[in-house]
Formats: sequence, C-alpha cells, structure tokens
Amino acid sequence: MKIWEERGKLKIAAPAKINLFLEILGKRPDGYHELETVMQEISLCDYLYMEESDKDVLFSCSNPGLAAGEDNLVVKAVRLFQKESGMSKGVKVFLDKRIPVGAGLGGGSSDAAATLAWLNKLWKTGYDETKLMSIAGKLGSDVAFFVIGKTALCRGRGEVVTPYPCEAKYHYILIYPKFEISTAMVYNNFKISLTKNLKNVSSFLQQLATGDPDKVGACLYNRLEEVVLRLYPGVETIKNVLAAYAFSGVLLSGSGSALYGLCKKEGNIREIEQQLKMRNVGDVFVVTNDFDDNGS
Ligand code: C5P
Repeated sequence: MKIWEERGKLKIAAPAKINLFLEILGKRPDGYHELETVMQEISLCDYLYMEESDKDVLFSCSNPGLAAGEDNLVVKAVRLFQKESGMSKGVKVFLDKRIPVGAGLGGGSSDAAATLAWLNKLWKTGYDETKLMSIAGKLGSDVAFFVIGKTALCRGRGEVVTPYPCEAKYHYILIYPKFEISTAMVYNNFKISLTKNLKNVSSFLQQLATGDPDKVGACLYNRLEEVVLRLYPGVETIKNVLAAYAFSGVLLSGSGSALYGLCKKEGNIREIEQQLKMRNVGDVFVVTNDFDDNGS
C-alpha cells in the first residue's frame, strides 16, 4: 500500500491481489482450511481518504451497494484497532471502491490492512509489522498478507505470511464476470476427501523465480477452481474464452469470481484487451505486479 497527502487529507492506495498458487492441505478443527497459497499484489487499487474526526467512526463509500455499517471491514478494522490500542478517538473514512467485490481479489482485506497501517501512523502506536499482522489475522484470513504485500507464500488459514522476493515484472489481464461469489460457500462445497496428488508449492516458487511467464504459466494452480467452475457455468465459459488467447496461463483468483490470464513476454496485451472488451465477457483490467503501475 502507499500513503500520501492530497488536499489536506491522507490518501491511501490499497492494492488487490491474485493467487498464483493455492493448494488445500486439509480441514482444521476450527472449520477453516489449511492452505498453501502464493499471493501477489497487483496494480489495481482501492483508494481510501482518511481524516481524524471527533465523532466516532464515519464511513462512506463510492459504491452504494457496499455495506457501510459495522459489517464493513474498514469499520471493523477501526473498532479492533481502537480496542487493541486503547485509543478512543474517531475517524472519517471515504472509500473509493475500484476493486470488484466478491471476486477473490482481496479488496475488502486490503482496505482493512490499509486502515490498520494508517491508524498506526495517525495515533503513533508504533506497532511493528508482526503486531499489525497479528491484529490483521483477526479480521480475516487474507488481511495479514496486505500488511506487507508484494509477493508472499501464505500458510495456515492464509494469515501466516512469508515474503517471497519476486524481481520479475508480470503482466496480467483480469476479467470480473460482474457477479459475486461467496468464499464461505465455495469452501463449503469443497470435498476434502477428493484431494489427491497435492501440488507442491516449492516447485511453483522455483518457476516463479525464473521470471519467465511461460514457465510460471505452466504451473499456475488453484485447488478451488474446479469447484467454482462446476458451480458457476458462467465462470467456466469465461475460462474457455480466455484459453483461446495466447496467454502463458489462465487461472481463477482465490474463490472467484475473477479470472486472470498471465501474458506472454511478447504478447500483444492491448490487442487482447480490446478483443475481450468487444466480446463482452465482463469487466476487463490490464494490471501488473508493479504497484507503481496503478496510475494514481
Ligand atoms: O477469513 P475469511 O473471513 O476471509 O473467510 C471467509 C470464509 O471462507 C470462512 O468463513 C470460511 O468458511 C472460509 N475459509 C476457509 N478456510 C480458509 C479461509 C477461508 O474455510 N483458509
């Protein structure tokens, strides 16, 4: 994430993520699934404008469809940070929502992590990344990843984060099918007994380190993809459309509904983008894993 000042208010860019690899190792006694996933921050961002307020937590959003009450992850993040730090001051937050919702792109989680980072600065609580990540883990499985961002191997529920330096620049075309998918529903439909031949994350990471999209594309993997394609024929249709283009690989992100194509080194990204837009398969975004490409 990136924090800077604009017209007297703090502006924060909170990036989306994609999952390049996701394997499910088992079901835990707490009902969650034990994961091994490689997440990568991308250049599609939400923007949060924050300022101090003497009146409690005032939250508003550019997307009227989004819950703005106590259920919103930004509001939950403020409440939890107040509790952990013992601070009782208020804040005013406006969220300019650009990351599609219910897409497996981690938008809500990223907004929550950005809120924690900003409050840590504003209230001078001086928490280090480890402490912020432990607070983040209480808000959701993906929130801790966004405290450090970039590329990381995430284990446990997703909240045990090990940074994985990735120097190479990758280009992706993202498709949001214009409908949301509930993460809990996808996991509920996942049959753990069907998990055979577990995919090995170490061999994936070796390929990622090469910086060669064709090598990475050949081993992109998401254990949840099969369940989602079965439950949502609309997602399968888009996957089939993308498969006809010259991508290095095509994959569902997280529990969906967004899919992405990893672009080849010499691929004509703008031409593919135009064609996909004309085919009306959903919202199309061209992104990279370089935060500075977000255009803000
Ligand atoms: O942690 P988060 O709120 O993002 O998770 C949403 C839902 O996804 C959980 O309630 C759970 O049903 C499912 N989930 C899971 N195993 C994980 C992460 C999420 O079963 N590792």
